[in-house]
Amino acid sequence: MIEDEILDELEFLDDLVAADDLNQDLKAPLLEIIREIIRTNGGSISFKEFMALALNYPDLGYYSKPDLKLGADGDFETSPETHPMYGGLWARQVLECWNLLDSPSIFTFIELGGGSGSFLLGMLASLKRSSPDCVNSLRLILVDGSKHRLNQQREKLELAHPDLDGRVDLWLLDDWLDKQPPVENSVLFANEFFDALPVHLLEASDEPQSIVSELHVVLDERNQLAFRRSILMDQAVIEHLEQLFLSGDTPTRVPISGTQIEVNLLACEFMSRVSKKIVNGYMFISDYGYEAFDLYASWRKSGTLMAFRGHNVQQNVLDLPGITDLTAHVNFTALARAAGVSWVSDELISQAEVLVSLGAFRLLDSQSGWARRRPDRFLAARKAVETLTDPNGLGRVRVRVMRRSVSAERLLCQSEVLV
Ligand SMILES: C[S@@+](CC[C@H](N)C(=O)[O-])C[C@H]1O[C@@H](n2cnc3c(N)ncnc32)[C@H](O)[C@@H]1O
Repeated sequence: MIEDEILDELEFLDDLVAADDLNQDLKAPLLEIIREIIRTNGGSISFKEFMALALNYPDLGYYSKPDLKLGADGDFETSPETHPMYGGLWARQVLECWNLLDSPSIFTFIELGGGSGSFLLGMLASLKRSSPDCVNSLRLILVDGSKHRLNQQREKLELAHPDLDGRVDLWLLDDWLDKQPPVENSVLFANEFFDALPVHLLEASDEPQSIVSELHVVLDERNQLAFRRSILMDQAVIEHLEQLFLSGDTPTRVPISGTQIEVNLLACEFMSRVSKKIVNGYMFISDYGYEAFDLYASWRKSGTLMAFRGHNVQQNVLDLPGITDLTAHVNFTALARAAGVSWVSDELISQAEVLVSLGAFRLLDSQSGWARRRPDRFLAARKAVETLTDPNGLGRVRVRVMRRSVSAERLLCQSEVLV
């Protein structure tokens, strides 16, 4: 009798799991495509290949689908989506760069991975007020991996800044890298671009034949995506690890057994190619990440790979591909090295430091008239500044300032380094 009850219960649980699997198939049309790719690939793909499919598969990947929503209505908050003030404050830095470049008559601003275009909108609105001359010299190059994101950026720009028509070029990243010549007098800005690129997922192990395993994605007995450890064979990753752990960049020679780490070779490849597109100017790379020494610290045993849906961290990074955002922190040391010796990289600073330096709080303090006239807007701006500088939230995003063939002087965004 009790046996029957237990069997009944097990059957019920089976049904529940099967219903959940079905639900997943319906919600994530990319899942069946990935299963098929795994089957045709001999039953396994690397996690990096999985992440590339989940984020960038045409029209179904997280970043390549037509209807990506970032910010409050999406899965996670980025700084430009928080408030137009973010772009508005950065406009002050862009203007300083234009001045330091001797106010060139052609000044190229490049945005990498601009998402919905919110950064640019805020930045341009503010720049127009502070320096019409700078705006008159402006040429925009917007580069993204998805045509839908580029369309979103184009539509927003046409609506808000129709006067820039004819001075805006939109490019898919590979096309821009392959086809466009380097430009002079430029500023490049990228927020949360590099942490959205697919990573190799590795685990330090005790196995005698290899000290590191690579995590692959396979199908389990229920036809669901699952992890499997394999010996690391990828020569480029092996060379990257040798450089990482033998060069003294990191505190340990070899990560402790069981430690998970991510390696972002694509970020290095893009940085190496992107950096050659600028003859002289500045790059501002803003992202979650650390220098290698901190990123690969021995206490960070589970790595930094994370999955987000509806502003919640998800347990299983393989769930609902195309619907779940996947991200891993950036190795800023590797990025600086990839840019090559012609680029000088300054000390990493936090977004909180950058925005304080750009005058976020001073701006609010000077707005008593606005506060009386539009208290709702003033309070929203004040709340946004708090969110953007929160040391436990967006304020801990790191910013790397890089410069090539320009003066070495400290920039406005570096003027207030907090502890
Ligand atoms: C996290 S979003 C950040 C968007 C925007 N910068 C912001 O802060 O709101 C990542 C951006 O990088 C782009 N992206 C992701 N993977 C890419 C790839 N492989 N090549 C080029 N762009 C990519 C996405 O389309 C998106 O615009």
